[in-house]
Amino acid sequence: MKIALIASEANPFAKTGGLADVLGALSLALERLGHEIALILPAHRSVLRGDYALQDSGMTVTVPVSERQETATILTTTIGNDVTVYFIRADKYFDREFLYGTPTADYSDNAERFVFFCRAALEILNANPVDIVHGHDWQAALAIVYLKTQADRYRAIAGAKTVFTIHNLAFQGLFDQRDWHLLNLDSEFYRPQYLEFYNHINFLKGALVLADKITTVSLSYAQEVMTPEQGFGLDGIMRQRARDLVGILNGIDDNQWNPWTDPQISHRYGEHSVAIKVSCKNSLRQQVGLADHGETPIVAMISRLTSQKGFDLVEQCFDQLLQRDVQFMLLGSGEPRYEQYFRAASARYPGRVAVRIGFDEQLAHQIEAGADLFLMPSLFEPCGLNQMYSLKYGTVPIVRAVGGLKDSVQDYDPANRSGTGLVFTDYDANSMLAAIDRGLAVYRNQADWTGLRRRAMAMDFSWERSARLYSDLYRGLLA
Ligand code: ADP
Ligand code: GLC
Repeated sequence: MKIALIASEANPFAKTGGLADVLGALSLALERLGHEIALILPAHRSVLRGDYALQDSGMTVTVPVSERQETATILTTTIGNDVTVYFIRADKYFDREFLYGTPTADYSDNAERFVFFCRAALEILNANPVDIVHGHDWQAALAIVYLKTQADRYRAIAGAKTVFTIHNLAFQGLFDQRDWHLLNLDSEFYRPQYLEFYNHINFLKGALVLADKITTVSLSYAQEVMTPEQGFGLDGIMRQRARDLVGILNGIDDNQWNPWTDPQISHRYGEHSVAIKVSCKNSLRQQVGLADHGETPIVAMISRLTSQKGFDLVEQCFDQLLQRDVQFMLLGSGEPRYEQYFRAASARYPGRVAVRIGFDEQLAHQIEAGADLFLMPSLFEPCGLNQMYSLKYGTVPIVRAVGGLKDSVQDYDPANRSGTGLVFTDYDANSMLAAIDRGLAVYRNQADWTGLRRRAMAMDFSWERSARLYSDLYRGLLA
């Protein structure tokens, strides 16, 4: 099959979160199954300034945005064997320091930027037709909407089937109704049945209504999005579309995240040489300024600093946690209030708490290799990748039973010596602390701890499995 994946991020070109990991790996995994893959991305600044052997395709596309015509040039490169990556280059839209906004505010022209992106993506496909158009997250949602509502304009792909993946229902692409003119859609679509959402334009909603199939990134999240608690106002639509809604758990990229081959960590190890992790731990301590406290376990977090990730719980019991014999390491960036809190915490506990504010891919690998326990107490979590990286690196995850966390980590059971991590259910600090304490207790028992880590490291989250499920879904649509 010929499949186009449309998204705003993909490794290694541009990343703010797990979306990029998924697009970078899924495109290659689908190719390995024998499909012909095109990946369409904006030419963000990180793409233009990166070292990617970009080629000018010679193609330009011109698309309507409100009353204007706007033009992009199309750059290409190849990843994997023969995955064509198309970059939509329009520097006034995408050559910017950040992808979606500064740390304090979204860019005010995001509606226009992603109207443009989606239309330009369809122009590329109109010239290079595919069987399946697969959009990811709100930035790509309008590609589905235009294909379904303005098929005349995109004749060569009018028959293509559409799939839309929700990576996070909290991000919907919500814009003021004054932006409606930018879309050049009939006013019929500014109604609650389509893109209208409480007097706003909701890009995501358009794709959820119109896509042939909708997927989310775990089975549990597929259920959760149909509930008012986690539906972010769109649960009604999700329930209406229940028959076309599928959960497919993300995989992890073995070429990027494998302690046996990882070039970014100080010492490499596997399931049967997990004792080597101690060397990684010592390197990590030296590097980030944690004191050499011998066997004291390191509890780590790597995350966007946002309430989604459960930082309120961590704050609530942080001092209690530090009454235990632990060291704590955080790598993250995001909401200023959390950045301030953790900066102050590291000053209060010198040598015991290390905090790095920023985005640092290599340090993320070193933390996965060097820490003992990985904390991910999310309020909601569509899939989550770090808990899977942690399992693979023998860094025992402590997670809340929600979304993809629930689907990928099995609670430790001392009686049967089963399980791969510590799982708690209620979103409250005491439940989280109790799970951490259970983890610390296993840590102190050498034999149980080794068993737990081995089981964790033996888990298989290959992309091949997930890619097959997508492949079956596409095939079903074309049948
Ligand atoms: P989300 O996409 O909601 O942020 P995921 O767990 O799916 O959550 O993916 C997060 C990805 O971003 C992981 O690859 C993680 O390692 C990475 N990441 C998050 N914050 C940072 C950071 N500050 N530095 C480096 N990598 C980070
Ligand atoms: C989103 C979700 C995260 C998921 C990622 C990739 O950013 O928050 O849970 O793992 O997308 O699908």
